[in-house]
Amino acid sequence: MKQEENNEIPRAIIFDTTLRDGEQSSGFHMLPEEKLQIAKQLSKLGVDIIEAGFAISSPGDFESINQIAKEVGTPDGPIICSLARAVEEDVEAAAKAIEPAHKKRIHTFIATSQIHIEGKFKKTKEWVIEQAVKAIKKAKTYVDDVQFSCEDFGRTDKDYTVEVVTEAINAGATTINLPDTVGWLTPSECYEKVKYVIEKIREKGLDAIFSVHNHNDFGMGTATSIEAFKAGARQIECTINGIGERAGNTSMEEIVAILKERNIGKTNINTQLIGESSKLLSKITKIYPQPNKAIVGKNAFAHEAGIHQHGVQQEKKTYETMNPEDYGVKSIITFGPRSGRNALKSKFESLNINLTEDQFQTASTNFINKSDKLKEVDDADIISSINNSEIPIHHEFISYHPIHNNGNYEVEVKIKTQDGEKSETSSGNGQVDAGIKAIKKLIQKNIELQDFKVSSESPGSDSKGITKITISKNSWKVVGKSQDNDVVTSSFKAFIDAINRINFIENYFKN
Ligand code: KIV
Ligand code: ZN
Repeated sequence: MKQEENNEIPRAIIFDTTLRDGEQSSGFHMLPEEKLQIAKQLSKLGVDIIEAGFAISSPGDFESINQIAKEVGTPDGPIICSLARAVEEDVEAAAKAIEPAHKKRIHTFIATSQIHIEGKFKKTKEWVIEQAVKAIKKAKTYVDDVQFSCEDFGRTDKDYTVEVVTEAINAGATTINLPDTVGWLTPSECYEKVKYVIEKIREKGLDAIFSVHNHNDFGMGTATSIEAFKAGARQIECTINGIGERAGNTSMEEIVAILKERNIGKTNINTQLIGESSKLLSKITKIYPQPNKAIVGKNAFAHEAGIHQHGVQQEKKTYETMNPEDYGVKSIITFGPRSGRNALKSKFESLNINLTEDQFQTASTNFINKSDKLKEVDDADIISSINNSEIPIHHEFISYHPIHNNGNYEVEVKIKTQDGEKSETSSGNGQVDAGIKAIKKLIQKNIELQDFKVSSESPGSDSKGITKITISKNSWKVVGKSQDNDVVTSSFKAFIDAINRINFIENYFKN
């Protein structure tokens, strides 16, 4: 890839480091088969380069890069890259790990800021240049495509950066990465500094693809990366969901959306796969982005306040700057005390409930009073506001009795209904699964389980298990909640709570 120089919208090279900078960060460690799954998804997504790991860092990481190189580094697949410190053994390990890939890159780096040179290396600026040049030359004996990074460029003297980069290009580096390792620069500072280095290098008659790799310590990773792109950097390093060391790296979904929606740059990313890529990473790492995370957070396209609901009902673009479906995510209307009358009216219509104006007025007032006291509102709460009714407890959990059966689990669950006490036994892959199946037999309803979340109230083993279960029937969706010292009991109670809510809706329509 050559850095273009024309007036067209420039092409951004997307360098994904989810499997290296993302994976090395606290809590995000992935197993080799999981890394391979992510690498396959990244390839499908259309990233240009996958930084698959840091080969020398552990035998597991080496094997994983090697496997990705074999299986994902196909002729029409992405470039497979391994990180290497500016140290001979690192470069050798990186070269070996990426060997099977059709397109391969070695990414070598050394810190160039005075803070790192004095504080970490206890060496001189000249020593740093020597190490960089040696590593690049060594990498060149294995591959043509060599990337060099001036770690902590954000706090490195700009003229010294020009000196290092000049030597790096002369030694054979084809991509020069200028990372703001600790997210120090403001967007305008990043623009000026990146532009300065690129111009000085070009004045010398030298060139390379310039790259940025910015961290989010002050929440500026995406903004500084965009400014660097505007200043002439053509490669942007990023991660899915913005995972990475400390406060994370520049997030891929944000970068890709800004470049596309603001017509700043083109990428090869199939944006419709962003939602599923984010979900896959969360499923594997068990860490979900914060609800208000741009593009992929659960609230990124959720509208709850009345003014906003009214706006998007009239014209989506009022509060949606992009079409969520272009990013494989959905726009939703949620309800709470600040929701609007129009949205509530539409909600009743979508539930096939026709109310007179007077009935709607009453329901709307009831709903505001009710939802003021709730953390979350579901379809049963909305319907119950029509007559200000309580949701009756049709079924009540009494007890469960686990029966271990040759490695399989069997559980008997006893519940109380209006017809008296009933019990059923079922088997499953654990006590919860077996018990939920037993409850399903008892209540005989055609429901779909949409989400099941268990968390703890506090860190101790004496903590209460908190369960939240979302189920649906027809177009209705309800959330059952419970907490109990015993997590299994809490799960069964939450499921029964959800069933009671569905029951309430069914009875509303029957009457
Ligand atoms: O943040 C950083 O500087 C890095 C380098 C290795 C590119 O991760
Ligand atoms: Zn980094």
